[in-house]
Amino acid sequence: MSVEQALTIADLKEQARRRVPKMFFEYADSGAWTEGTYRANEEDFHKVKLRQRVLVDMTNRSLASEMIGEKVSMPVAIAPTGFTGMQHADGEMLAAQAAEEFGVPFTLSTMSICSIEDVRSVTSKPFWFQLYVMQDRDFVLNLIDRAKAAGCSALVLTLDLQILGQRHKDLRNGLSAPPRFTPKHLWQMATRPFWCLDMLGTKRRTFGNIVGHAKGVGDLASLSSWTSEQFDPQLSWKDIEWIRERWGGKLILKGILDEEDARMSLGSGADAIIVSNHGGRQLDGAASSISMLPRIVDAVGDQMEVHLDGGIRSGQDVLKALCYGAKGTYIGRPFLYGLGAGGKAGVRRTLEIIRKELDITMALCGERDVKNLSRNNLLKDV
Ligand SMILES: Cc1cc2nc3c(=O)[nH]c(=O)nc-3n(C[C@H](O)[C@H](O)[C@H](O)COP(=O)(O)O)c2cc1C
Repeated sequence: MSVEQALTIADLKEQARRRVPKMFFEYADSGAWTEGTYRANEEDFHKVKLRQRVLVDMTNRSLASEMIGEKVSMPVAIAPTGFTGMQHADGEMLAAQAAEEFGVPFTLSTMSICSIEDVRSVTSKPFWFQLYVMQDRDFVLNLIDRAKAAGCSALVLTLDLQILGQRHKDLRNGLSAPPRFTPKHLWQMATRPFWCLDMLGTKRRTFGNIVGHAKGVGDLASLSSWTSEQFDPQLSWKDIEWIRERWGGKLILKGILDEEDARMSLGSGADAIIVSNHGGRQLDGAASSISMLPRIVDAVGDQMEVHLDGGIRSGQDVLKALCYGAKGTYIGRPFLYGLGAGGKAGVRRTLEIIRKELDITMALCGERDVKNLSRNNLLKDV
């Protein structure tokens, strides 16, 4: 089956499973501890029921909208994900190109394989950059400056990873970038020859934003100890101020899952918050993103844009989030599966699938403009 034949995100996931070495496929398809929150993110979307309407003019439908003042062909951005260049060679560059051609924002992770400059070199419109705050403040300031120099149009500051949630699969798989050459890892790669061939054709196999930029990080061993020690456990609301000042552009706070935190973010000067639990990869046992969305939207009112990620596997899920008041959504695993399955064409396919599902669902709900969706299109709260 080619990526063009995939009809659902689940089809792309199965294709990716067959193409990507186990340790990297499972890095995407995993959550913290019991993976309960990871599952709830998807399951809770199914509890939201849509209002079917009939005899409504369905011509001239539009999915075009805006996220933080930027025009988007549909309100679905690519979420920042680490190791993306390990799902497919040069993964971040390919995904950024697919997103640009589709007219949706691409967010590059601090923990990407391709660097900010790599992605800049293959795109012509600004992309967004996600920042993890490290204890090495010189490194962080430099990273912000590099994102500015590359013309990034938004900084996405991740707040929910001051320490790393435990994901059992990664520990069992001995995940690293580049992969180690133990018999187990060699076997995983040998059984994925197309992935290997693509990977042999690129020099980008480790964390491009870090190696060569952080002091004392030269080889794999120094890199892994640097990253595990570097996330700043003391990050606080006060830090947002210096980050915002240094950055000087649009700022999005990622990882808000609580009404009180949402209200606190109102004073931060940020342009938007992302309701997110990191795709169930951090606090297992936390509520699903979609179940928290309505009350967070109510808590901030129209004082700030609210976005959502976590569990979106179809255009229907996007629509449900928009009905609850999200101005934008993000997809993590759906684009990673597309990328793993077929590189740039696979990411394009992911976006096409979601667009089609969103469009048809909107029409059958009796709406023609994505900007008009509201709780009125839903039957009941989750
Ligand atoms: C493999 C993987 C790596 C991720 N890496 C990052 C990261 O580097 N920075 C970040 O802010 N979020 C990261 N996330 C979280 C995503 O940005 C997003 O919140 C999550 O994937 C949304 O859930 P979904 O995968 O169900 O769409 C990662 C998620 C996945 C699946």
